Amino acid sequence: MEYRHVGKTGLMVSELCLGTMQFGWTADETTSFEVLTAAYESGINFLDTADIYSSWVEGNPGGVAEMIIGRWLNKGIAARDQVVIATKVRGRMGEGPNDEGLSRGHILAAAEASLRRMDTDYIDLYQVHWPDESTPIDETLSALDDLVRRGDVRYIGCSNFPSWRLMQALWTSDRRNLVRFSSLQPHYNLLHRGEYERELEDVCQTYGLGVLPYSPLARGFLTGKYRRDKAPEPGSRGASSESLKRYMSDDRSWHVLEVLEKLAVEREKTVSQMALSWLLSRHSVTSPIIGPRTVMQLEDNLGAIGLRLDPIELAEIESVSDWRKI
Ligand SMILES: NC(=O)c1ccc[n+]([C@@H]2O[C@H](COP(=O)([O-])OP(=O)(O)OC[C@H]3O[C@@H](n4cnc5c(N)ncnc54)[C@H](OP(=O)(O)O)[C@@H]3O)[C@@H](O)[C@H]2O)c1
Repeated sequence: MEYRHVGKTGLMVSELCLGTMQFGWTADETTSFEVLTAAYESGINFLDTADIYSSWVEGNPGGVAEMIIGRWLNKGIAARDQVVIATKVRGRMGEGPNDEGLSRGHILAAAEASLRRMDTDYIDLYQVHWPDESTPIDETLSALDDLVRRGDVRYIGCSNFPSWRLMQALWTSDRRNLVRFSSLQPHYNLLHRGEYERELEDVCQTYGLGVLPYSPLARGFLTGKYRRDKAPEPGSRGASSESLKRYMSDDRSWHVLEVLEKLAVEREKTVSQMALSWLLSRHSVTSPIIGPRTVMQLEDNLGAIGLRLDPIELAEIESVSDWRKI
């Protein structure tokens, strides 16, 4: 496992980050613990979560993934300072008008709640989950700055920001001498390249932001487990996820999958390993966030470590997935 700096910071993270959106949703607590332990033992030191995971499950108030991480940390398998925890704020966590968004009040309350749920004194990387158009960015950054100054948070990042908003935030931090975003978490995979590569990639490179792509396997499509002539199993992510449905209804996705399947057979690797390896080969990427639901899926994903695609393989993958051709 390689360790890389998050952008221009001194913080070192493993080249794969373990996402925890499945915890308390499709992975129960026992399985989540197993995945956390196996990931840590493989050298992954980087966890991504969010306060809202998995608030969409009926009867679940949110915060469950963070609580599972907290209870796992308390088992003592990993010392707190050996794990880098990234969590997020922005989503709705209560019924009140101030229980969501990026206002000063909600950020300060949400950070306190995340610390409590994870039973920890600090959050390594606190990320804004997506923009809040109704709150001035100055207010958001000044609340995040306070959290860093009082030691509750070490670095800040953002997710799902378009390039103009990211630039606006970076300039605001500069102008007002506030802490700046050190990372971006974009939706980025072989089926969803344009949004990041069109402008965000240049911004991240120019301003030295770490890049943590989420949904690197297109929510499971890039494992090859969904087939064109077969409806996804009821209850699976394929049957419920809107973005998976979009991928499955696009001919281009199936062409990308065909090429990956051919190359995977030639290399005796899995489709998911080829897809992850492509992301790892992108010069601006720091650490893709994988989302395995089981230890078996994790082990498969880990097979991408050390797999280097050769120039001919890369050219073939680039050509079939190039967003400029659409
Ligand atoms: N910032 C944001 O807005 C945002 C949004 C989404 C995700 N995220 C973060 O990114 C992480 C990863 O997202 P993601 O879950 O969409 O990632 P992904 O890697 O694209 O998809 C993961 C899913 O692929 C399937 N899978 C993985 N390995 C497999 C294997 N070897 N064989 C068969 N199926 C396999 C599993 O689906 P099944 O469960 O159906 O088996 C798993 O849940 C999340 O946990 C979260 O931390 C952030």
